[in-house]
Amino acid sequence: MLEPKRPSAATQVHRQSFAVHYDYPVYFTRDVFDPANLCLRHALARLEGNKRHRVAVFIDEGVALACPRLPSRIARYAEHHADAMAMAGDVVVVPGGEAVKNQHDCVEHMLKDLSARRIDRQSYAIAIGGGAMLDAAGFAAAIFHRGVRHVRCPTTVLAQNDSGVGVKNAINAFGFKNLLGTFAPPFAVINDAAFLETLSERDKRGGLAEGVKVALIRDADFFAWLERNGTALARFDPHGIDELVRRCAGLHMRQIAHGGDPFENGSARPLDFGHWSAHKLETLTRHALRHGEAVAIGIALDARYSVFSGLLPEAEGDRVHRLLVQLGFRLWDDALDLRDERGRRRVLAGLAEFQEHLGGELTVTLIAGLGRGVEVHAMDEALVERAVQWLKTRASPQTLP
Ligand SMILES: NC(=O)c1ccc[n+]([C@@H]2O[C@H](COP(=O)([O-])OP(=O)(O)OC[C@H]3O[C@@H](n4cnc5c(N)ncnc54)[C@H](O)[C@@H]3O)[C@@H](O)[C@H]2O)c1
Ligand SMILES: [Zn+2]
Repeated sequence: MLEPKRPSAATQVHRQSFAVHYDYPVYFTRDVFDPANLCLRHALARLEGNKRHRVAVFIDEGVALACPRLPSRIARYAEHHADAMAMAGDVVVVPGGEAVKNQHDCVEHMLKDLSARRIDRQSYAIAIGGGAMLDAAGFAAAIFHRGVRHVRCPTTVLAQNDSGVGVKNAINAFGFKNLLGTFAPPFAVINDAAFLETLSERDKRGGLAEGVKVALIRDADFFAWLERNGTALARFDPHGIDELVRRCAGLHMRQIAHGGDPFENGSARPLDFGHWSAHKLETLTRHALRHGEAVAIGIALDARYSVFSGLLPEAEGDRVHRLLVQLGFRLWDDALDLRDERGRRRVLAGLAEFQEHLGGELTVTLIAGLGRGVEVHAMDEALVERAVQWLKTRASPQTLP
């Protein structure tokens, strides 16, 4: 074999190397726009204390409809703290839900709004909304002036315990979920428990799935806590939800900070346990299935696959399934039965798309115990088939809760 040529004598290589440190607060609070609540004020002023910080505020339409007084409360908050902040124009309402990630003119509108408000790299884009709206607003904030300061106020269980505390954003494109996006840590995150009160039951439940996910890969005690509190969580007991959000957010933050790969340069992505099929199911159902609902199915599928492949004791696999059912998830969708022109289940294409998204070798997280994620580099299609069949049998009306 030919040796690769060394650079010639005329070639010089200068090594460039530096590290960038990220550090952002995640507040857990209530009533963020009560003038007596100082979280936002502190967040804005955490680098330059004696300054009026300019802020552009974007609100998810679903939140604006559920809290019609929110824009006036934000304006009142800004007036009360006028020495520390100034509104750069009125608040802007943007579509919520997956639509905001599918319709690219939403991002363009936000960019125009940032431009019209003369937001610079030391002023702020504040986004208040669900995971989808935060993804789109975060993307706009990350590319405007190559990145302006971004404060997130997540308003769903899922956004507060998972997406909102993380470092990525994305929109969907060309039929693929999250195809366009950046890694861009927020300037601050403010989780306000009061926002969760107006959420639909469906969206409250969706966020529980990410709690089960992170417990299964990282924290057996948290899994046991979920089991003990399953009934209260299924009723959306606010104390239960509050603890779930904090524990789940904490585990996500720990993984990002200490997992060794915050910007996902490697091929593994443990926090995406259950997601290879979930993302595909979301696309196959044209987002009729919400992210959390799809993740619950994805977890059930990969947990059963873990049992069938000999990694997970069956009794533990049964506990995973029982908990998801207890939390009220339907662990089947007919999209699992869709087939391509060659008769192959279309959901299986999710594996190749997952690999392509991460790059490199296929790496899927499975579980070898409750709280113990493990990585595998191949999935046996016959076992996936068995796991899908198993879910289908279990989802028949007789076995629903
Ligand atoms: N960036 C990441 O790391 C990451 C991680 C996980 C998920 N996500 C993304 O998050 C999205 C899902 O987010 P989600 O589960 O928060 O749902 P969502 O953002 O789709 O919101 C669901 C619905 O609830 C409405 N809503 C939001 N807050 C409300 C409130 N307080 N009261 C009433 N209605 C409210 C929205 O308008 C929307 O109609 C998906 O696109 C997923 O890909 C991103
Ligand atoms: Zn997810």
